[in-house]
Amino acid sequence: MEISERASQLTPSITLSIDSKAKAMKAEGLDVCGFGAGEPDFDTPEHIKAAAIAALEGGFTKYTPSAGLPELRQAIADKLQADNGLSYKPSQIVVSCGAKHSCYNAILATCQEGDEVLIPSPYWVSYPDMVRLSGAEPVIVPTTERNGWKMRAEDFENAMTPRTKMLILNSPNNPSGTVYTREELEKIVEVAAEEEIYILSDEIYEKLVYDETQHVSVASLSKEAYNLTITINGFSKSYAMTGWRLGYMAAPEAVAKAVDSIQSHSTSHPCSFAQRGGLAALKGDQQPLADMRDEFDLRRNYMYDRITKIPNITAVKPQGAFYVLVNISQLGLSSQNFADRLLSKANVAVIPGVAFGDDRTVRLSYATSIDIIKKGLDRFQDFCRTL
Ligand SMILES: Cc1ncc(COP(=O)(O)O)c(C=O)c1O
Repeated sequence: MEISERASQLTPSITLSIDSKAKAMKAEGLDVCGFGAGEPDFDTPEHIKAAAIAALEGGFTKYTPSAGLPELRQAIADKLQADNGLSYKPSQIVVSCGAKHSCYNAILATCQEGDEVLIPSPYWVSYPDMVRLSGAEPVIVPTTERNGWKMRAEDFENAMTPRTKMLILNSPNNPSGTVYTREELEKIVEVAAEEEIYILSDEIYEKLVYDETQHVSVASLSKEAYNLTITINGFSKSYAMTGWRLGYMAAPEAVAKAVDSIQSHSTSHPCSFAQRGGLAALKGDQQPLADMRDEFDLRRNYMYDRITKIPNITAVKPQGAFYVLVNISQLGLSSQNFADRLLSKANVAVIPGVAFGDDRTVRLSYATSIDIIKKGLDRFQDFCRTL
């Protein structure tokens, strides 16, 4: 059977291949320290699980509206107003099977052959392939460690062509942990507004910010920003609900309608009782989230302090998410070679930056226990010293 051109152009996920190598080594009985995790190592809070169990036991097992439960869309609208200063009607919100699905739906609803989509690198691994699936062309905008791995408005302006349709912004960022300030976002929005470039603003890590850092929602910056932005968020990272597959987007009415149509003919709505869990997450006790954030903060400080003491590697202190992006370019190895050798020689799994469009770096996740972080960093440090 012939595979379509569309599917053939996709790149296999490098993150998953390192992960499966590490798992195979663990299965052989090797003591592997994994820094590859892209999900919180905490369990979903009990009250959220209880709500889903009650829904299941109460027979809440049938189809829901394709855009999600009305009460969940209302709760999301309330959350966006309270936390982000954004006024969306429930009809502007579509709940999907994870924020990944929301991003994909949104790109599919707005981009097509002939369009270019700007993606600052390092980027979350799935964006370019999502863009390719829509028929549009991903255009990578490299950033530098010196600029804190942030795309400046002038970088944006220089990368723009008459075909530019959309910019994908991800703050707090995976893999760099960088968080754009209000002023930086305002300048970017100004450029986007001049040429009516859409902004896909992936805010999935918004609750995981540290020190004095404040998360700013792009759509809240101005009326123009609101009209050009598709806001993406979800439950995976804030509420440790990665396996539940629940995310959402909020956008101008026409986009939400198109996304609802796409979804109604593909996956339909996300799992009915998972949606009840999502409702409990938004309406219930937020303390587990705060506790998780505090624990991540301790690990972040520990990991960053250790890494910056190792000669010939550098890092920018992450202000959000749960990753430290390490610049290994002085060591003279490609990121894949570095990650492969680190795994086979020192039993430490990291994600090579080539997966994020930046071969100068590797990503270490601190979504793992402090004991593993300590042990893994001892090995990481010894390994770097041998190079
Ligand atoms: C930046 C970013 N966006 C979206 C997602 C997808 O989240 P979800 O599990 O809700 O699909 C991830 C997951 O790793 C991510 O890092």
